[in-house]
Formats: sequence, C-alpha cells, structure tokens
Amino acid sequence: MAATVVVGTQWGDEGKGKVIDLLSENADVVVRYQGGNNAGHTIVIDNAQFVFHLVPSGILRGKKCVLGAGVVIDPRALIEEINELRSRGIKITNRNLLISRDAHIIMPYHKLSEQITEEREHSRLGTTRRGIGPTYVDKMARAGIKMSDLINRKVFLEKLSWHLKDINLVFRRIYGRRGFSLKRILKEYLEYGKFFKGYVADTSAIVNKAIESKKNVLFEGAQGTLLDVDFGTYPFITSSNTVAGGACTGAGVGPTKIDEVIGVAKAYTTRVGDGPFPTELTQKSKQEAMRIRGKEYGATTGRPRRCGWFDAVAVRYSARINGLDKLAITKLDVLDDLPRIKICVAYKYRNKILKDFPTEIEIISKVKPIYEEVNGWQHDITEIKKFQSLPVNARKYLKRLSELVGVEIFLVSVGPRRSQTIFL
Ligand code: IMP
Repeated sequence: MAATVVVGTQWGDEGKGKVIDLLSENADVVVRYQGGNNAGHTIVIDNAQFVFHLVPSGILRGKKCVLGAGVVIDPRALIEEINELRSRGIKITNRNLLISRDAHIIMPYHKLSEQITEEREHSRLGTTRRGIGPTYVDKMARAGIKMSDLINRKVFLEKLSWHLKDINLVFRRIYGRRGFSLKRILKEYLEYGKFFKGYVADTSAIVNKAIESKKNVLFEGAQGTLLDVDFGTYPFITSSNTVAGGACTGAGVGPTKIDEVIGVAKAYTTRVGDGPFPTELTQKSKQEAMRIRGKEYGATTGRPRRCGWFDAVAVRYSARINGLDKLAITKLDVLDDLPRIKICVAYKYRNKILKDFPTEIEIISKVKPIYEEVNGWQHDITEIKKFQSLPVNARKYLKRLSELVGVEIFLVSVGPRRSQTIFL
C-alpha cells in the first residue's frame, strides 16, 4: 500500500468510508487532511453502524490516526465524537489519535457567521452550517486560531481578544447581533485546550517518518472532487482542497512521497446541498425511489440527497485532476431493480457537445446530459463475492464505466458490510 490517497470523485458521499475502512486493515497510519465535521463517513461492522465526522475510521482497527494541518476542528464536536466512540468500546488515546498543531479551530463566531449567510436567500449555498467556510476564510485572512494557540493560554487570550474586537464590530454594526463575550469563549475553549493538549503534535513529522520507515499510510479524503474549492462547481463547493493534491498540503508531505491515488465513485450520482447537477433525475418519483433504495440521506445533516445517473464526464474530469490510478465503484446493488440504466457520456451546451467538464457556473448549470442507455441486470447482487459471478449486464456496466472514465476498477461494493465487497 505504501502512501495511498483515497478521494471522492463526485460531490461527496461516494462511500469512501467503507473503502477506507477496508484499506485501513493494511494501513499503519490513517490521515485526514482537509475539511472538518462537515464530513460524515458511515461504516457498518457486524450490523453495528458507526458514523465518523472528524476521527479517521482507522481508529476502529486500532490504527494510528492523524488529523493534519489542513483539517479544521470544532473542539466540542471532536470531544463528543471521541466520547461517543469510547462509550462504544473504541480505545482512543494520544497514542492512536494525533492532531496537527497547525490545524485551525472552528470558533462560535464562524458558525454564527455561516448561519447568517445561509439564512439570506441570495447567499445561500446549502452548507452543512458547521462553520467550515468561515474558518477557512479566517485561515486565509491570517486571522485564524490554530490548535497550537488553543493549548497555550497566553497566546490564545492574546489572539482571541484581538480578533474578537473586529469580529464583534462586524456582528454588531452589520448584522445587528449582540457579539461574543471574550470571557465566555475563553472559559469554554481553554477547557478544550486542556483536553487536547496531549494530542497536539508536529503531525507532518510523524507522517513523513512513517513513510520513511516503509509503513503503510492511508490519506483519507473527505467530500468529493466536484466540491473542491479550486476545481469544483464554485461557488457551490466546500472551502478546502478535496482533491488528491490536498493530501500533500493538508498533511505536510511532498508529492514525491505519494505512491498511489484511489478514486471512489458511486455507481450513480448524488449531491447534497445546492448547486449544478447535470444528471439529476428530473422525475421526483424516480429520484425518491433511488434515494430510498440507496438510503441517500446526509450522514451529517440528515438532509435528503439529490440523486441521478452516473456522470462519466464528471468522473473522467476527477480522474484527471486527481491523477487516479484505480477506481472503486460503490453501491452497485442500488441499481439492482432497474430494467434500464443511463450513463452520461457527454454534455450538450447550446449547440456544442462537451466532452470535458466545464467549471464555469454559467455553463455547468445549463448543460444537458447526453445519455447512453444500457440494460439493467434485475438481480440481487448483494451476496456475490466474485466479479465473474456478477450478472453479465452488471459486468458490462462496470466495464463501460471504466472505459469512459479511463481508469481501471479494482473494487466493487455491493452492500454496506465489509463482506459485501468484490476485489477485481
Ligand atoms: P460546507 O462544507 O459545510 O461548507 O458545505 C458546502 C457544500 O459542500 C454543501 O453543498 C454541502 O452539502 C457540501 N458538503 C460538505 N461536506 C459534505 C460531505 O461530506 N458530503 C457531501 N457533501 C458535503
């Protein structure tokens, strides 16, 4: 495995959690490198369901888990997640969970600021309202608070009192709100600082050392390529680099250290939140049927996900942006009942045929998908263990996806359990 990056190739929720869980069996270190508790990975083991938001799921297998510098951390949410996992018998200590000293902290004003933006019709993006975007804004504006600040009382007090002056001006004068009490935030956050002190480390050094000693390191991407801040459907994106390159900047490893990039794609497409989605099913009843069959409700917000056909233009674009070596196709079983299945092979925009994914919001929100229609397999595939045992139409479907995306498929998931996986 060496150093492997796993990324989502669509708009998130591709089933990365399960793929990462399977791959982490052979990993020594599992690293989250971007995003925050906007992510939600669901993992099913022996009928028990675990939902992860920040903690890498490798913790279930007792692996060393790292939250890199590119991650943004809501301390309260992370403590709740740790406590919930501990209450279910998962051991979490500062030996198997390490947090980068450079990771930025989600503060209460980030959450309120996002709430206000999302409540205004014209600025609504359908975010998870976890304060992710505003935290990255402060990070880039050089006004953020890092993990290393949080665990240092003096520095934290200094930074917070300085920032809060500006922040409260904005909240009071522009938004007509009360503003935040320095004393109250200090009291709450210094407690978090105490909790996390032992977990904070120079995680880039830890990850690089693991790579140097030939350990297997798995970089766990959150969200998906089309939500990337630079390459996604801007402005309907998340605020971090969800692409494979984000693993380098977010974990502090050089590109020369990465051996392999794996993309995860669902056998169809979903999107949660607002924004363009060319292959979204237009018939409400069909969309609802796919949602129910695929249990397509957000793991973080519980919102119903929008559903549609597989978009090969989008995933081919992801293959390019991420430099994918291999592809995992998940939730193939969700299509089991369908007599006919559509695959989007190109877009039509005005009178032009587009084979490449446009990121201009004006174009991507107006393209019409050009579909190829194939026969379904109408067979329960959830207990099938070998590629050769899949119905011929399911095999043809997978081969066609691989051909269109231009990447070899190495894993097919036919159900949520670990055992419901076919390795090719
Ligand atoms: P934010 O990440 O909360 O800023 O939300 C920005 C956009 O990304 C919204 O459309 C969210 O629904 C979407 N998003 C964020 N995290 C995830 C995820 O883990 N899966 C799917 N969509 C996500």
